[in-house]
Formats: sequence, structure tokens, C-alpha cells
Amino acid sequence: MTEPFDATEVIAAKRDMQRLSDPQIDWVVDAFTRGVVAPEQMSALAMAILLNGMDREEISRWTAAMIASGERMDFSSLSRPTSDKHSTGGVGDKITLPLAPLVAACGVAVPQLSGRGLGHTGGTLDKLEAIPGWRADLSNAEIMAQLEDVGAVICAAGAGLAPADKKLYALRDVAGTVEAIPLIASSIMSKKIAEGTGSLVLDVKVGSGAFMKRHEQARELAETMVALGTDAGVRTVALLTDMSTPLGLTAGNAVEAGGGPRDVVDLTIALAREMVAGAGRPDVDPAEALADGRAMDVWRRMIAAQGGDPDAPLPTPKETHVVTAQADGVLTRLDALAVGVAAWRLGAGRSRPGEQVQAAAGVVLHAKPGDTVRAGQPLLELHTDTPERFARAEAALEGAFDIGAAAPDLPASVVLDRVD
Ligand code: URA
Repeated sequence: MTEPFDATEVIAAKRDMQRLSDPQIDWVVDAFTRGVVAPEQMSALAMAILLNGMDREEISRWTAAMIASGERMDFSSLSRPTSDKHSTGGVGDKITLPLAPLVAACGVAVPQLSGRGLGHTGGTLDKLEAIPGWRADLSNAEIMAQLEDVGAVICAAGAGLAPADKKLYALRDVAGTVEAIPLIASSIMSKKIAEGTGSLVLDVKVGSGAFMKRHEQARELAETMVALGTDAGVRTVALLTDMSTPLGLTAGNAVEAGGGPRDVVDLTIALAREMVAGAGRPDVDPAEALADGRAMDVWRRMIAAQGGDPDAPLPTPKETHVVTAQADGVLTRLDALAVGVAAWRLGAGRSRPGEQVQAAAGVVLHAKPGDTVRAGQPLLELHTDTPERFARAEAALEGAFDIGAAAPDLPASVVLDRVD
């Protein structure tokens, strides 16, 4: 087959700050998926996109090309409406685990096709794989059957869904091109549109532990994604949520599968309300389904349906190490990125594509910003099976927290803003 373009001319166009044409975009995404555009060429193009950006039409066309690289799923034959949630990635972001069963308990089916960790951010599948027996890979027929029967499924996105994104995501992870709004927006929205959910709630993280560090950047990402979803006929809203400090009291894999403290519960309910409203059930209150145990029943059935034992003890680490407070006072800052990097270095994340993660690795927080602490009191507990990792994890935590005299100025709510 004669190719209509050369990869080098497409790379040079973006390098020289030109708009890519529709045929250029369609071709480069398709040719990369077919293996005609080499990984080093796509890496160079991704870096040019990161540096020089794309306008809304280019992002929309790029997203459509990524969708067209694979299959589209269709849940319209289910007896209940569908809604899904996607987070842009954070530290301690275990929200999918309680959220999917909670929304299912409210009569809305949740097809959560999830990913593994990217950089310092944890992956939902890595957390669930800490549950003995649980399996992430389901066929499309199994997904449909579980959605009808249990109402919620959290599983790996199959190889057929946006394969262009799978290849590009892996390249970006190791080539310093994750933090580009056009690439994040098209990556997330191509998967969610191809997945065929009826409505979608985006949890766009803002702060040191997020890919978007500043509110304006996060808002631009949220607006870009909401526009892509709306144009594709998916009812889409976004919440901007705080990621300056880890969510909850744990960051890692198995450590994140336990019960949730206040910020986790609040965010779970805020997202669940948006999801049931987006699915046309604004009359249902998720807070009730959480309090009366219906969500927990669905959680147990959802885990068991995928081979997991909801009663099995979770793996525990072979070694732990405690980081203590050096002074009396108030914890004024605990940096999310540092905790995420520490958990990653302890073995919760990967440093090479496809590497095994440690189920028991991670960080447990004994205090959160605003808490009073005393000198010598444990602040953080580091977990790993391989103690030679402690030194690098501790290095990541250098300068990660401050203890002061006055209470810090904390956001009133973990939800900072909303885009629809
Ligand atoms: N999550 C995704 O699916 N893609 C990105 O690019 C970043 C976060």
C-alpha cells in the first residue's frame, strides 16, 4: 500500500507550530496502530504536540481517529441506563472501588473499563489485583452478563478498544509526554466514547499529585473533555478535585482496598450523585445506599463475580518503616506527589512497561494536613516486600511535609469546581 504521507512531514508540521489537517491526523493515528509509523516517530510527534498544542478541532479529530482504531461497545440493550467515571489520575485515588458498586446499588449500570498505574499515579486494576483470585480480563460477553446481573464491573479495557491509545499511552509513560492536555483529553475520551457509556463523570485532579498542577490548566482539560463527550452524544460533566495532598489515608495497592475516611466518602458521594443524575435518576440518593449496606452487598457480588474472595485477608508487607514528626505543631502540608513517588518506589508502581507491582507496597498516612502532631509521633508508614527500597522512598519524602504553629488554609471541600 502506498502511504499518503511521511511521518517526518507530519512531525515537522507540528514542530513548526502548524495545524495538522484531518487527513494527516487520520493517517498518522492509523499508520501508528498498523506499525507503519515507528514508536520513535510517534514519540517525537507527541513531544511536538506537548510543546506546541492542538486546537479543539485537531483534538476532536485525533480523538475520533483513536476511536476508529478499534471496536465500539454498545450497552443500549441493557435493562438499566449506564454511567461511568474517569479520573485523570491521582495519589491514593481509590474512589472507583466504592463508587462503582454504590452507583450500581442506585439502579444505574457501571461499566468501569480501567487501566493500570501511569507514572506516580496508581491504577485501579493494580489495587483490585491485590484481592486473591480477582481477575481483570473479561470478554465482552462476560462484561454484558455481569452488568445485567450485578450492575457493576471493573475490568481491563479489552485489546480491541482504542488500540491506538494503548500504544500511545505506553510510549508517553516512558517518554515524558504524559502532561499534554490534547493527549490526556483524547486518551481518556477515546476510550470512554468507544466504551459506549450513556453518561460520564470526569474527576479532574488538580494539585501537586495530579498531572495538572494549576486550577486553570485543569479547567481547560475539563472543558476540552466535556466538549468532546457532549459532541459525541455522551452526557458529560467534570468535577475538579483537590490533589495537593493524597486522598484518604493510604496510597498503594492492597492498602487502598480498605474502608474510607471522610474525604474519600465525600468525594465518592459527590461523584455518585453526578452519575445517577447523568443517568436520569436524580431522585435516588447514593448516601442512603452507602449507609444502609446496599453498596457493600454489590461490592461483594462484584468481586466474587470476577473470581475474587471478598473475605480473603489482603496481602501484608514483609517490611515496614515509620517516618516520624520532628516537632510539635500542626501538619500544614503533606505533598501528594512525594507520597505518590514514595509508594511507586516502594514497589506499588512500575519503572518498566509490564513490570509486576507489589500488592502490599504503599504508604499509610497517620496524619493529614490540619492535624495536630507531636514530636516522635508516626506520620507515615512505608510498606514493601523489598527493604532495599526504603532509602529511595525516604529520599522522595524529603521536604514533603511541613509542621507549623498555625492551622493551614485548607480547601473547604475536596470538590473545587464543576464544568458541564
Ligand atoms: N488517564 C488516561 O487514560 N490517559 C491519560 O493520558 C492520562 C490519564
